Amino acid sequence: MDQIHVEGGPRLEGEVRVSGSKNATLPLMAAALLGEGATTLRNVPDLADVTTLLELLRTMGVDAQWVPGAERHVVRVHAPPNVLPEAPYDLVRKMRASVLVLGPLLARFGRARVSLPGGCAIGARPIDQHLKAFRALGAEILLEGGYVEARARRLKGATVRFDKITVTGTENVLMAAVLAEGTTVLENAAREPEVEDLARALNAMGARIRGAGTDLVVVEGVSTLTGVEHTVISDRIEAGTLLVAAAITRGDVHVQGAVPAHLDAVVGKLREAGCTVVPTADGLRCKGPDVPEPVDLQTTEHPGFPTDMQAQLMALLSVARGTSVISENIFENRFMHVAELRRMGADIRVEGHTAVVKGVHTLSGAPVMATDLRASASLILAGLRGAGTTRVARVYHLDRGYEALERKLQTLGARTTRVK
Ligand code: EPU
Repeated sequence: MDQIHVEGGPRLEGEVRVSGSKNATLPLMAAALLGEGATTLRNVPDLADVTTLLELLRTMGVDAQWVPGAERHVVRVHAPPNVLPEAPYDLVRKMRASVLVLGPLLARFGRARVSLPGGCAIGARPIDQHLKAFRALGAEILLEGGYVEARARRLKGATVRFDKITVTGTENVLMAAVLAEGTTVLENAAREPEVEDLARALNAMGARIRGAGTDLVVVEGVSTLTGVEHTVISDRIEAGTLLVAAAITRGDVHVQGAVPAHLDAVVGKLREAGCTVVPTADGLRCKGPDVPEPVDLQTTEHPGFPTDMQAQLMALLSVARGTSVISENIFENRFMHVAELRRMGADIRVEGHTAVVKGVHTLSGAPVMATDLRASASLILAGLRGAGTTRVARVYHLDRGYEALERKLQTLGARTTRVK
């Protein structure tokens, strides 16, 4: 299994380009199931999760591939009228976002059988809100043998109020509602930029969606959709991670392709920590302070501070001049990086869903183990600041969500190597 070795010390400087967003790409690939023609997605990140979803689509009889010659950044998906609407356990257990095929399969093919995703390292992650909404749209839902079996001759528009804000839940139901008969109203919908990107593509396919990006989304159902050519938005979490790489190394990095409007909360906290962050014509530039100031933060749904950036900010605040308090409000178990950061000398105490981070003067390199995607990023960031070498094991977690992060950091002057 690969490891990434990080030798701490260098200030990172220069320019780096953000890849396309993983969490926008996955629902867009699922949405391609809805179109009667082929869909082409550009700016797709070359990640293990994308490959897994391509594989899943192919097992259904869908023509789904990387377009040759486009350096694996373009994907083409064409679903014939006779797909096998099933997502088996073996693929869903690899990636819970596979559950995103449920809405489109149900809407276009009237039937879906999808393995129930289990929990994962960061929490239980149920899909009750997805299922509640499909029932409201008239689907018959059976849970049997670890699978969700959903059927509907044609879904019917309805008003759905999510009891809990859910990103993939909002996306899944949106993809079902576009082909339903009549009007669907989604209340308490997720406002993430990835939901907005999905709605933009669906509207270009012929859907009629208003309000995506707000908590009230209205969908007028249509009877068919076409394929589309769509360019995926850039990855705000990768962009944020690169901004923190600049911040933690006292560096000066221009993150090209970062969208300031998607990163307000993150940039706000970086500024509080003493970073100079300025928008440029094509992204954001971040200069790190000598010693970061302590900052309190709470993760919440967009436009609040994203849970997907919590571990990275914690790495930065572990070397702040004072004590920061970080509350994780989205997932119940997303502090798995704490024990590893402590092995590098960080002084962090966890009480329930709150971490109290007392800044230390130096971190020291150590062998550490990644437990989830963003935790791995946080350990690499800490390694950039630590004295000596940090060896991050289990980097397959990182590879699920960051395209060649260690190579991007190298171009900025980091001493990072992948060891097979
Ligand atoms: N929840 C329920 N019931 C549901 C759905 C969600 O109780 O039916 C709970 C979850 O257990 C969690 C909270 O609601 O406590 C929020 O979950 P949400 O459904 O919004 O998360 P998700 O859609 O499964 C997406 C991203 C995650 C990101 C979260 C929160 C994708 C593919 N994944 O997950 O990304 O952390 O939203 O922003 O879009 C990552 O990229 O590292 C990652 C984990």
